[in-house]
Amino acid sequence: MSHPKQMEALHRECENCQRCALADTRTNLVFGDGNPNTGIMLIGEGPGEQEDLTGIPFVGRGGQLLDQMLDIIGLDRSRYYICNIVKCRPPHNRDPLNTEQDACIGWLERQISIVQPKLIICLGRIAACRIIRSDYRITREHGTWAQKDGVWMTAIYHPAALLRDEMKRPETFDDLKSIQSKIRELWPDFYLKS
Ligand code: URA
Repeated sequence: MSHPKQMEALHRECENCQRCALADTRTNLVFGDGNPNTGIMLIGEGPGEQEDLTGIPFVGRGGQLLDQMLDIIGLDRSRYYICNIVKCRPPHNRDPLNTEQDACIGWLERQISIVQPKLIICLGRIAACRIIRSDYRITREHGTWAQKDGVWMTAIYHPAALLRDEMKRPETFDDLKSIQSKIRELWPDFYLKS
């Protein structure tokens, strides 16, 4: 089965998930979006209000900012797959609890095994702590590179943090340039294809 078909099948399986209490308060499950074929994966923390209403990750104000920033380095959703650590909105946008993350992580692990990423970009601290290292310090370490099981990983500030604090944006542009260089290194003809 192709990656998109496998992902669709996994999405259907996840659709009625009741593994944690977030199922009781969700409007829509927010499974993932984009292209599962490119080997590039972005991982956020959990859906916000707009995502809960639409069922699509990163479509609110933060998501729009993220899209604009990624556009600068030639990335749009046809060129990466994007999803979250938890698939349902935590009430009032609180951080997802460890128990909720633990209940949900199996879905992400299966998404990762379909995408087989060569590059993972964590969006914010919660994703970085879960994916890169449990004691990851986003302020100190954003934009640095780690390699785990042959997969290159980095983290940038969460778009909501960039909306709250514009002073963080120049550093994030440096991180994006570094991501662009890594993409060129891993896929030399990436930017030659349109
Ligand atoms: N913030 C996230 O971490 N994920 C989304 O999908 C939207 C906002």
